[in-house]
Amino acid sequence: MNLVVQATAPSNIALIKYMGKTSHSENRPSNASLSWSLKHLTSMVQVEFTSDKGDKWEPLRLEEGYHAPSLSKKGQQRFLSHFQFLKKKMGISGSYIVRSGNNFPSDCGVASSASSFAALTKAAWALAKEKQLSGIMTREELSCLSRHGSGSSCRSLFTGWARWENEGAKECLYPLQTLEHTLILLDDKKKDISSSEAHKRVTTSLKFKGRTKRATERLAHLEEALQNSDWKQVYKTSLEEFEDMHELFETSNPPFSYRNQQSRDITRWVEEFWKLHEDGPVITMDAGANVHLLWRQDQLSIARQLLSEVTDRCPEVRLLQSPGWKDSF
Ligand code: PMV
Repeated sequence: MNLVVQATAPSNIALIKYMGKTSHSENRPSNASLSWSLKHLTSMVQVEFTSDKGDKWEPLRLEEGYHAPSLSKKGQQRFLSHFQFLKKKMGISGSYIVRSGNNFPSDCGVASSASSFAALTKAAWALAKEKQLSGIMTREELSCLSRHGSGSSCRSLFTGWARWENEGAKECLYPLQTLEHTLILLDDKKKDISSSEAHKRVTTSLKFKGRTKRATERLAHLEEALQNSDWKQVYKTSLEEFEDMHELFETSNPPFSYRNQQSRDITRWVEEFWKLHEDGPVITMDAGANVHLLWRQDQLSIARQLLSEVTDRCPEVRLLQSPGWKDSF
């Protein structure tokens, strides 16, 4: 029986976004970012020793609830080259079959690169431990390594809030530590513009001037709001921030957009809901058409109200709900 190790990692959704890099080769961000980990949306990676020559990627098929991404040749190479970087750092020799899968749709703005690269980093470390090559590595150290594969993956080593400024992310403890998450899945098709391309393209937007300052100021507001459990301020800052990122995309040269009419409509309904009720979810979008909502746990009845309005108006959407409220809709 060949040696097999396995690891899982959550996706994460940033409220202050990583968009724009100071170094593309090392994934160094133009600004600090802050995210919430989505423990119900995970990737799994298995690594198995092989006597064949060279590492190879395969889709993960066996695990219940996980389906394999259809990784392009380029995507497979990127994944394996991160594995080779990790092997070198951890002193691992030999060849391996690397299998990966997600329990949610890939490449449509649900940050599958974050969860899959973080799971790969954890799996390489599990292998190094199994071979007694590595002592204790902290999550912060693993986060620094994971950043090299995909920037946003460095925040997926943590549960809850994670803040990434330079080398890697760190966990943040705010009073709001138990939140529910709804993903409104509007489009699960593979996106045309990858996030790596988006990081480059945004720098051509006239709005990119001042972006670092805007994101830095917003991060300070967000952290203050989270410290004070000021939910309305968290909502306002998050709304401003994802609209800023999408405006960068839409004013790039050449321009591109991930938003569709439904994402715009849902954003407007959430704003109207807040005006009417003086309460509502925190809304954000990643580099995709889908809409993410975060809720406090005491908001179940308004969540039911808003989400039934959404599904009445757009019956074809799918809701992916975090475990706490999974059977409540
Ligand atoms: O890690 P990357 O290169 O896939 O960057 C993705 C960045 C966004 O998801 C668009 C925003 C973020 O901070 O997660």
